[in-house]
Amino acid sequence: MLHSKEHFLNDVFLTLQKYIKQSAENDFVVKVSHPEKLKKILPALNEEGLNSEQVVDELKTILDHSVQTIHPMFLNQLFGGFDEAAWAGEIASSLLNPTMATFEIAPILTVIEKRLVNEILEMMGFERGEGIMVTGGSNSNLVAMLCARTEYSPSIRQTGFGHNRFRIYVSEEAHYSFDKAANITGIGTQNLIQVPANDQGEMIPEELERIIKADLNDGYTPIMVGATLGTTVMGAFDPLVKVAKICETYKIWFHVDAAWGGGALFSKSKRHLLKGIHLADSVTFDAHKTLGTPLITSFFLTKHAGILKDTNRGGGAEYLFHEYDNSEWDTGTYSLQCGRRADALKLWLLWRAHGTEGLIERTEHLLSLADFATKEISENSRFKLIHSHYLNVCFQVHARHDQENINAFTLRVRKALVKEGRALVNYAQRADGTIFFRLVLPNHQTQKSHISELLKIILETADRLDILNR
Ligand SMILES: Cc1ncc(COP(=O)(O)O)c(C=O)c1O
Repeated sequence: MLHSKEHFLNDVFLTLQKYIKQSAENDFVVKVSHPEKLKKILPALNEEGLNSEQVVDELKTILDHSVQTIHPMFLNQLFGGFDEAAWAGEIASSLLNPTMATFEIAPILTVIEKRLVNEILEMMGFERGEGIMVTGGSNSNLVAMLCARTEYSPSIRQTGFGHNRFRIYVSEEAHYSFDKAANITGIGTQNLIQVPANDQGEMIPEELERIIKADLNDGYTPIMVGATLGTTVMGAFDPLVKVAKICETYKIWFHVDAAWGGGALFSKSKRHLLKGIHLADSVTFDAHKTLGTPLITSFFLTKHAGILKDTNRGGGAEYLFHEYDNSEWDTGTYSLQCGRRADALKLWLLWRAHGTEGLIERTEHLLSLADFATKEISENSRFKLIHSHYLNVCFQVHARHDQENINAFTLRVRKALVKEGRALVNYAQRADGTIFFRLVLPNHQTQKSHISELLKIILETADRLDILNR
């Protein structure tokens, strides 16, 4: 049982503050533990509660056994780092704990969310539209598929598919969330067609058109193309203007998954990569990927005001969505969710604290890190640069004595890196079997010195494995 709630909260905050400070300085990002060891560290749930000190001690243990995603050497995922203002928004939204379903329960937070939606729509060049925050970029891609279905046939929501044979097109480099969405929507994963990409990972529009024509001949109904801005592995940007033209010709919903590449909206040097985004019917954008808000800060945006309601309507009128003075502000009727977190607040406070210029500076910093990493890697003969674009740098490491296949060696080095825990960078594998480090740079706390240190650690690890080999 907690004795003094005030003391307890003080201790919790001191513990978290200490974690924030130490995490930036620790010489490890992760301490790998076996699940069985972790099970032993965590005692069984007991009949009697713990006292304040014991709860705080347990919190410390959990922090200590967690991956330090706010560490500057956490470069493993498409998010990372720590921002005080965004975190203030995060903890305040869980403290306020509203549901975004109705204006009545989340008045100022609803206004904040709508302001952010409108601001981002305007930055993307949309003259009108609407949007909603969702549980992730994956969910936003799912909502896009549902809207495309509504656009094609508003009654499918009630009647089901009947004899319709829908087809959806994404590039072979697109995120796997489209597969999940094809499953959930009932369109079927075999009707999600992967369009070939070029060497740079960009969808080939001529191939897209060829496949659509063949499908039409075979009696299928193309309902959506999902282009990607910033593919997960290669950071490629599909050619939006050409894809938009094809969608216009064949009257297909044009969705753009800008979950990762949408960060270029806040860059002066790379904003041109978003050329044509205003032609999209809908867009996915994850602010948590490059701006530094905690997970999740995701948007679904569309130029078609009203489509979200048409797609998600149904239920709740008897107890939740009442007619009242401001009920036109309720967002629950737009959403797949009933309870919905106030994710807008963390982005709002971040944006207010840094201003648009501050967010642009942050993004330019990330881009400069990617340039620096690319240069360092390409100038060192121990590395082989596979591909570099936007915030993604893909590379391999050679063994000094070259007696081992570079794919297998790169994978061994990555495994050893995780065990050591001083830095965390993920790897990816291409269909042709090429295995490489996928260095991504969304963490604004990372500096050039950290990149140099990371490359040094990779080479040290490679040398150690190399010696063991001989
Ligand atoms: C291109 C792309 N789209 C969508 C997603 C899914 O985003 P989320 O993790 O927010 O669901 C990702 C995740 O990395 C991504 O890279």
